[in-house]
Amino acid sequence: MRKNLVVAIDGYSSCGKSTLAKALAKKLGFIYIDSGAMYRAVTLYIIRNHIDINNHKAIIDALHHIELNFHARDYESHITLNGEEVSEEIRQMPVSEKVSDVSAIKEVRTEMVRQQQRMGKSKNIVMDGRDIGTAVFEDAQVKFFMTADPKIRAERRFKELQSKGDHHTSLEDVFENLAHRDYADTTRKESPLIRAEDAIILDNTDITPDEQLEFALNKVRPHLPQQL
Ligand code: DC
Repeated sequence: MRKNLVVAIDGYSSCGKSTLAKALAKKLGFIYIDSGAMYRAVTLYIIRNHIDINNHKAIIDALHHIELNFHARDYESHITLNGEEVSEEIRQMPVSEKVSDVSAIKEVRTEMVRQQQRMGKSKNIVMDGRDIGTAVFEDAQVKFFMTADPKIRAERRFKELQSKGDHHTSLEDVFENLAHRDYADTTRKESPLIRAEDAIILDNTDITPDEQLEFALNKVRPHLPQQL
């Protein structure tokens, strides 16, 4: 049995996984790892290098030229791609539009999962994504499966993009992108998004971030060596 504690958070796109993961990590003093940022950074590399999204061989070759690192700062997820901080750029629409295709490639997943498992080998972590409780850490002590009304999710993501200066993307664009990614994530052949049998469902359509944090903390507390 693993000695370190792993909290796995999976769920649909833009339903607040990272908000909960960051808040939990901060409260518990755990390391937060945003696995989606890794697939996004690989996708950014593919876009920047004009690699055809259908050319899987070229994408797999590109993995040898990609080095990803996380830098923990204020429990925000800061990721570097070959030494360059790309945390903002990977959230933009060009990456969101292509990331499902890139993350469906088996070899890409194998490499990301290998890196993720290494990061969670000995430290207490909170990791969010789509396959954390089902593939990356099947033995995670606490698993959440998050969901929320698709319209609410699109509105939240839209506001986030606007606050970051993207005034070109419409609410409809965001809604369609989320619907497309949900479909791609749940139907892909390699590690599709499904709820692990032992995952706790958390629907946050009608609850505040504070309420969901409290709910999650109550589920994690029994697993802590000393009550925090
Ligand atoms: O969590 P996110 O929206 O930033 O993730 C971006 C994409 O990466 C998402 O559409 C699916 C993929 N992803 C994945 O396949 N497996 C993960 N563990 C995390 C993300």
